[in-house]
Amino acid sequence: MEIKAIGCEPLSLKRVFIENGHTLKVYQDTGGYRSLKTALGMAPDDIIQQVKDSALRGRGGAGFPTGMKWSFVPKGTEKPKYVVCNADESEPGSFKDRYLMEYDPHALIEGMIIAGWALGSNTGYIYTRGEYKYLIDIMDVALAEARDAGILGKNIFGAGFDMDIHTHTGAGAYLCGEETALLSSLEGFRGHPRMKPPFPAVEGLYACPTVVNNVETFTSIPQIIEMGGIAWRDLGTEKSGGTKLWSISGHVKKPGVYELPMGYADMEKFIFDDCGGMLRAEYGLKAVIPGGSSVYIMNAGQIVGKNVTLDYEGLVAAGSMLGTGGMMVMDESVDVVDTTKNLTEFYKHESCGWCTPCREGTDWLVKIFDRIASGGGRPQDVQLMLDLCDNIEGKSFCPLGDAAAWPIQSAIKQFPEDFRKWVSNGSSV
Ligand SMILES: Cc1cc2nc3c(=O)[nH]c(=O)nc-3n(C[C@H](O)[C@H](O)[C@H](O)COP(=O)(O)O)c2cc1C
Repeated sequence: MEIKAIGCEPLSLKRVFIENGHTLKVYQDTGGYRSLKTALGMAPDDIIQQVKDSALRGRGGAGFPTGMKWSFVPKGTEKPKYVVCNADESEPGSFKDRYLMEYDPHALIEGMIIAGWALGSNTGYIYTRGEYKYLIDIMDVALAEARDAGILGKNIFGAGFDMDIHTHTGAGAYLCGEETALLSSLEGFRGHPRMKPPFPAVEGLYACPTVVNNVETFTSIPQIIEMGGIAWRDLGTEKSGGTKLWSISGHVKKPGVYELPMGYADMEKFIFDDCGGMLRAEYGLKAVIPGGSSVYIMNAGQIVGKNVTLDYEGLVAAGSMLGTGGMMVMDESVDVVDTTKNLTEFYKHESCGWCTPCREGTDWLVKIFDRIASGGGRPQDVQLMLDLCDNIEGKSFCPLGDAAAWPIQSAIKQFPEDFRKWVSNGSSV
């Protein structure tokens, strides 16, 4: 397992390489909480402007501009406001946030307090999946250290600003990573998604203005305040600022968590050089899911010789999406129908059942996959699956439905031969 920065100094990964980097002492010895002191001397609007200038886009998958999201929070309301960290990290293929919380918990706390000051919020929550209990234990120790040092609680750093942050675990439902389902769960209800609009920035936790951001998004904030928004943006590209963590798994020699500048050139070099190339010499590259399971699957022809840059725009131009940066690499031994079936079973299992297209659609898709896999496939099944996906995509209550449809639609498009063999021969050969 590699943990490495390539093409940039480690910023998000900085303290992974420093002994006891998770402790308050080492955090402060290595520049930690300096940005918070700076931020507390700034006007809230100036902080939001720095975040806008940085071109930071949310690292939880959708890539929404963080500064813009923060500017949607209403000013001058009587209601309390909340800062919520989405640490659910349930997307198959994504395992970056856990390293940030394990090795650099104070960076998350610092980012959330800066957000609290910028947005006028005195309360923050860190919501993790149930399986990340061990991380909550680490976060709770870090929060207690910060409280004891006067960095959390009343009158932070003597600046007259109060804020506290609490941890909360879900019960391990993928959907509770979706921001409105997360808020329902945090309030103690079933993790069902809510209608948008109103968006959480206006009406979120307890119907109060709430900013929900990913762990990596928050840990980028102290870097932005330290460097200045424009300088941080210029580490990456104009539209995709800064550096980004990628979690790489599958058939590469050196899987792991890599920090790359946004716009890193290019995807082929990254897979074949930086990640050591294909795991087994006898198998070439077949497919890559570049951004966690909820994005379009790519074939080797979309990557090799195509100079795909690793940023939001580069991956869209190449026919997929950056998502969470959870890159899954598959060699020629992989049967894409089998992979897609596996993902569809995941989405069916994780569908909350709230809306019909997602609940029924994912179930029917799994039934068709099961029939194909047991040798009963029919040539018209491929079109039937596409029709079903069409009835889920854009028609479900929350984006889980889209996430279920996209891998199938793209797998059929990029690997028609794999599907043809299954429906004609009842097997992958
Ligand atoms: C089914 C589903 C699961 C999601 N899971 C996560 C997750 O585990 N972590 C996360 O940060 N965002 C997740 N998201 C995205 C969130 O809804 C939201 O966009 C994100 O927390 C916003 O933070 P950001 O702007 O910093 O990315 C998920 C979305 C969907 C539809």
